Amino acid sequence: MRPEEPALPAPRGPLSALLTEGLCAPAQPLPAPSVAVAPDPLADEDLQLALYTCYELHYRGFAGVDERWEWEPSLIAFRAELETVFEAELLRRLGEPADAMVDPADMDVALRAIADADDGPSLSRAVERDATLEQVREFVIHRSAYQLKEADPHSWALPRLHGSPKAAMVEIQADEYGGGRAERIHAQLFADTMTGLGLDARYGAYLDRIPAPTLTTVNLMSFLGLHRRWRGAITGHLALFEMTSSIPNRRYANGLRRLGHDGGTLEFFDEHVLADAVHENVAAVDLAGGLAKQDPGLGGSVLWGARALVLVEAGWARHVLDSWAAGRSSLLPEPERDAPPASAAA
Ligand SMILES: [Fe+2]
Ligand SMILES: [Fe+2]
Repeated sequence: MRPEEPALPAPRGPLSALLTEGLCAPAQPLPAPSVAVAPDPLADEDLQLALYTCYELHYRGFAGVDERWEWEPSLIAFRAELETVFEAELLRRLGEPADAMVDPADMDVALRAIADADDGPSLSRAVERDATLEQVREFVIHRSAYQLKEADPHSWALPRLHGSPKAAMVEIQADEYGGGRAERIHAQLFADTMTGLGLDARYGAYLDRIPAPTLTTVNLMSFLGLHRRWRGAITGHLALFEMTSSIPNRRYANGLRRLGHDGGTLEFFDEHVLADAVHENVAAVDLAGGLAKQDPGLGGSVLWGARALVLVEAGWARHVLDSWAAGRSSLLPEPERDAPPASAAA
């Protein structure tokens, strides 16, 4: 067992139970799941956790899990069943990517219009103005599912791109990965924020507490990044993410300052206020516009990816704000784990 590997999550239903039980054994054929169509797949705890667990095998894996599981054919088949439900729901909500050509020169305007049409609730305003310290800590725990591997899901797209959009994505990702300085890797800056807030900054430490609407935001990126046919969409996702990051991060920093934090705890947010003001243009014009210019057939997919980002982020923000408005935590309760057998505890 390696110290940096997180523990397998506690299951939340039959799919995640079947999966996590399988992963405890050496890689071997996994039974096919029967995936009942959930009323809301984007908020289904069991489905989203199972999908997240499958994807994590491509990132850091889990302590005690045979690394061969990553490419075990039955695991990939299991994941494909989950992805079919996930993708169908995204397409049901968003429609198919438009076939109509987008003028590459107008891609930044089209992306901005998607951001402007976003009428989802604003979590950053709540954090800036009146969230309690406990609520800010919750917000950071939610975000840890992505930020502790910030940029990694989009990096799956790099070998699928070429020419100028690839150069643009590398320019953005190089900053996300610290420009050659490990202590400036954005995931590390986020870990510093967690430490500053008295949280456990180890990768995956809070997975059991993180609910489906949050896992969905990360699963969307992994899904789009790992499927070459969605390379336009993961590009559009990154572009809008970068275009809409600077202002919320300023608000988050303001919220932390209001609560008495400073220094290294804020560095992650301050860095994004500056970096994403630069990334915004590279992402919209050079990356998204560049891809549409190079391959006009992908323009609709680029915009679809941006709309998918807005959809899942709104679902997440609504979950968090509704929970807080109702006076309850937006995180899941700590699961009850079976007590270890006496011999193992000795
Ligand atoms: Fe970043
Ligand atoms: Fe960025």
